[in-house]
Amino acid sequence: MAAPLPLRSDDDWWRDAVIYQIYPRSFADGNGDGTGDLSGVRAKLPYLVELGVDAVWFTPWYVSPLVDGGYDVADYRTIDPAFGTLGEAEKLIAEARELGLRTIVDIVPNHVSDQHHWFQAALAAGPGSPERELFHFRPGRGVDGELPPNDWPSEFSGNTWTRVADGEWYLHLFTPEQPDLNWAHPAVRREHEEILRFWFERGVAGVRIDSAALLAKDPGLPDFVKGVDPHPYVDQDELHDIYRSWRTIAREYAGVFVGEVWLPDAERFARYLRPDELHTAFNFNFLTCPWDSTCLQRAIDDTLAEHEPVGAPATWVLCNHDVTRTVTRYGREDTGFDFATKAFGTPTDLGLGTRRARAAALLTLALPGSVYLYQGEELGLPEVDIPRDRVQDPMHFRSGGTDPGRDGCRVPLPWAADEPHCGFGGDAGPWLPQPLDWADYAADRQAREPGSMLALYREALSLRRSGAGFGDGPLTWKPAPEGVLHFSRPGGLICLVNLSATPVALPGHRARLLSSGPLDGEGRLPQDTAVWLRA
Ligand code: NOJ
Repeated sequence: MAAPLPLRSDDDWWRDAVIYQIYPRSFADGNGDGTGDLSGVRAKLPYLVELGVDAVWFTPWYVSPLVDGGYDVADYRTIDPAFGTLGEAEKLIAEARELGLRTIVDIVPNHVSDQHHWFQAALAAGPGSPERELFHFRPGRGVDGELPPNDWPSEFSGNTWTRVADGEWYLHLFTPEQPDLNWAHPAVRREHEEILRFWFERGVAGVRIDSAALLAKDPGLPDFVKGVDPHPYVDQDELHDIYRSWRTIAREYAGVFVGEVWLPDAERFARYLRPDELHTAFNFNFLTCPWDSTCLQRAIDDTLAEHEPVGAPATWVLCNHDVTRTVTRYGREDTGFDFATKAFGTPTDLGLGTRRARAAALLTLALPGSVYLYQGEELGLPEVDIPRDRVQDPMHFRSGGTDPGRDGCRVPLPWAADEPHCGFGGDAGPWLPQPLDWADYAADRQAREPGSMLALYREALSLRRSGAGFGDGPLTWKPAPEGVLHFSRPGGLICLVNLSATPVALPGHRARLLSSGPLDGEGRLPQDTAVWLRA
């Protein structure tokens, strides 16, 4: 095992951290029952240290019926027994910290599971009860209340209202098993403030906030009129007050927030990052950008420009547990990402996608700010076409079966090429099927191959950690031929990415630090390749 990384003691660690996202169900299986767990994660901490990341973000690990992969939380203060116990989570947080890794947990404030005791009590208590006020219960429209109270579209296709036996309807922006909380109710605010404290007290360094721009609803719950502002449930002004109060709690623990904020409007997005609100938010405009130099450069410029006035660092993300894996997306005709256009059987050139993903890795790791890596990204895992009878994601079912859903990026990781199921799941086999060629991507195999994706990430992260010019700070664009991204960072770091068909000569430099692929016979940077240089 590599020597533990020194824990960055400065309170600003998050401004340029590399944060590794763990989807616990699919990361590592300690007890061999086919589902990933905390003992699996604990055993893999040395792997994460060797990879060179600064922190780990866990998608929800709380008690949950797993209707939406854990984003349907039944109890925030208990770990799902499939993953382990609270005591084990505490051990994990402490062990990780010993090894120099900070922990970020995921809080889902917009909704709870329908199995949460609040919702069960609300169902039992009936119309007009204080228990129902914690949610959005309403009578229906129509002569007999047979129509939903409004026409809001769901974030997962389909309806947003479900009728209960006594005739009332309740709101759920996602599945019926995820009733929305009423954030105008003081008890909802209080409870979440206590949940934050609960996890900060256990030593977590940060909190990822799920669906952060959706919590507050227009109290009249009016119909949705396209193009009319403000939107009745996205980006309501009340949210800022909530996050200001959260920030005062985070301050007590030196904790940080990262918000899941999908907003196209840069100015509205940046409001969440004002100094007394969230520290950071995911940069989805960059993630959805196609492999196109003009688009990428614009996304980078827009990102830096929108963050600059509020003094927050940018975040860079290529993929996560909701979107198509990078090597697959970049190997398709449409290299951008859009939930609406996902389909089964999309033709993919994985060789091409992998070359581009390698270049994209060096691009993102050289940009100013922090970077999120999604488990398996460092192995170059592709999106998997899950057989229809094994799909579990509600997005698939709610689309009427046309959307393949998000399971394809959640397939359990291949750890050991020569073990059954690549070392995940013992005899039981993993909860989602792994494709036949999964062993080719196994971490142990890649660890021995100098040119592997894992080797590239390890080397890049080691350089990023030890060298000048990475992370927070300015970026200066340099003149470059069309289709080439060329910028410098403080301390003489240069990053060049060639997205054009014409090989490009390297600018003058003192040292070549790393390239995502070989240079051509004349020492030029070929198409879909990136290089880091020291001037
Ligand atoms: C965003 C999460 O990333 C996604 O996985 C989840 O389904 C929705 N929020 C609802 O919680």
